[in-house]
Amino acid sequence: MATSPETSADGPPDKPDNSAVVNIGLMGFGVVGTGVAAHILGSNFSMADVTGRTVNLKKVLVRDASLTRDVELPAGVLTTNAEDILTDPDIHIVVEVMGGTDPAENYIKQALSSGKHIVTANKEVMAKLGPELMTLARQNNANLLFEASVGGGIPIVGCMMNELAANDIRSIRSIINGTTNYILTKMAHEGTAFKEALGEAQALGYAESDPTNDIEGIDASYKLTILASLAYRRSFQPSEVYCEGISKLEPQDFRYAEELGYAIKSLAIANLEEGAVQLRVYPALVPAEHMLAKVDGVYNAVEVDGSLCGPVLFHGMGAGRAPTTSAIIGDVVEAVRKMGSNSPLLEPHNGTELTVRPIGDLVSRYYVRLEVADHPGVLAQIAQILGDGQISIAAVLQRDTHPETESAEIVITTHPAREQSMQNALKAMTDLPQVKRVSNTLRIEE
Ligand SMILES: NC(=O)c1ccc[n+]([C@@H]2O[C@H](COP(=O)([O-])OP(=O)(O)OC[C@H]3O[C@@H](n4cnc5c(N)ncnc54)[C@H](OP(=O)(O)O)[C@@H]3O)[C@@H](O)[C@H]2O)c1
Repeated sequence: MATSPETSADGPPDKPDNSAVVNIGLMGFGVVGTGVAAHILGSNFSMADVTGRTVNLKKVLVRDASLTRDVELPAGVLTTNAEDILTDPDIHIVVEVMGGTDPAENYIKQALSSGKHIVTANKEVMAKLGPELMTLARQNNANLLFEASVGGGIPIVGCMMNELAANDIRSIRSIINGTTNYILTKMAHEGTAFKEALGEAQALGYAESDPTNDIEGIDASYKLTILASLAYRRSFQPSEVYCEGISKLEPQDFRYAEELGYAIKSLAIANLEEGAVQLRVYPALVPAEHMLAKVDGVYNAVEVDGSLCGPVLFHGMGAGRAPTTSAIIGDVVEAVRKMGSNSPLLEPHNGTELTVRPIGDLVSRYYVRLEVADHPGVLAQIAQILGDGQISIAAVLQRDTHPETESAEIVITTHPAREQSMQNALKAMTDLPQVKRVSNTLRIEE
């Protein structure tokens, strides 16, 4: 797989770079950028010891130079002009921690095109454009490293590329959004309603003022796209991930789940079966004794099931200044070590052609919570609908009855059934006059 230092498949000839001083251009000086800058400027960890070269922070790009920052930079380092980094031939590595696609995408492309190495934390750019950027990096003998884009301080990206590379990946099951996991933990342990738990997450700085990307599963779908593209060496797109958010969950779902022996977690799952990959993000019931059920608060976890290594669980802090700095500095160290060696990147397109299986083909167990008229015979009608769809009932719970509205709440769990059959059955149940509301439907991930 290695390319000789003198030649390159379809790019310019390599220029072994043996500079004693490696200059960094940092794009972004917010939560993550200040952590990275402080680390490079500080003396608590000597880059020279692990890389054999001096690492120098040459420029830091911001939008607004007048803002007060909690990390002091040497004079002349701060700039609001991206060209100061992109056109400086002495800057070897660009660390992009601005976020968003515009202008980050263009800056990354420009830097790679001029042979600069990129370290980025940008999951959106990597999910949408990762394979294209990897190709551009290869053509320009540059490295593109993105450990911080998934799981904050958890070293999952590097492991997928290197340590687990010998495995056929059967599945990835993960909790990769700390904000949702914090909200679900509050709802489960304290009976907090969704809106209240979200408000607390915002007050603590775990959720943004516009939390849509987190609570609707979009952020997790970006990260799952990156992991699946690495696992299956095919370029997936975030639009291929089936996505459901957590905002429909109510406190009683957590009570029922607990009674049935489960926790509710928002999972991001990729699995390969019969030549097709299924990609999905949704809240699901997880057996209470499973390790993923015990991942609480802002923590993340990724369980990878490989053909050789079996199931391996990564667990740790999925965001925040310090854990993300850990991932970025690790990538900077790798980029410095690789400079001049033209170490090959994982090729995104060399995996077997895999199709993406539609969600309707999923086979899963289900949890359904319904509000029904408190009359005899309702359950028999629901059982009939499920039976017609070849869906067999595993358990039925009826706990809360409301005499004032003559309604009752029923929870049904099923044996494995096809998603499409389940959706048809839910539609038929909604049409029954005795069913007031299908309050929630969740998959059960055993
Ligand atoms: N925060 C985390 O825990 C975490 C964890 C993993 C990955 N990430 C990823 O890391 C990246 C950065 O996140 P963050 O939380 O550090 O963001 P942040 O606090 O909002 O900081 C963004 C920084 O980028 C600068 N910036 C934004 N747009 C710019 C532009 N057009 N030109 C110049 N500078 C610009 C901002 O400048 P000003 O300061 O002048 O506004 C700011 O310094 C994102 O991709 C995020 O998804 C974050």
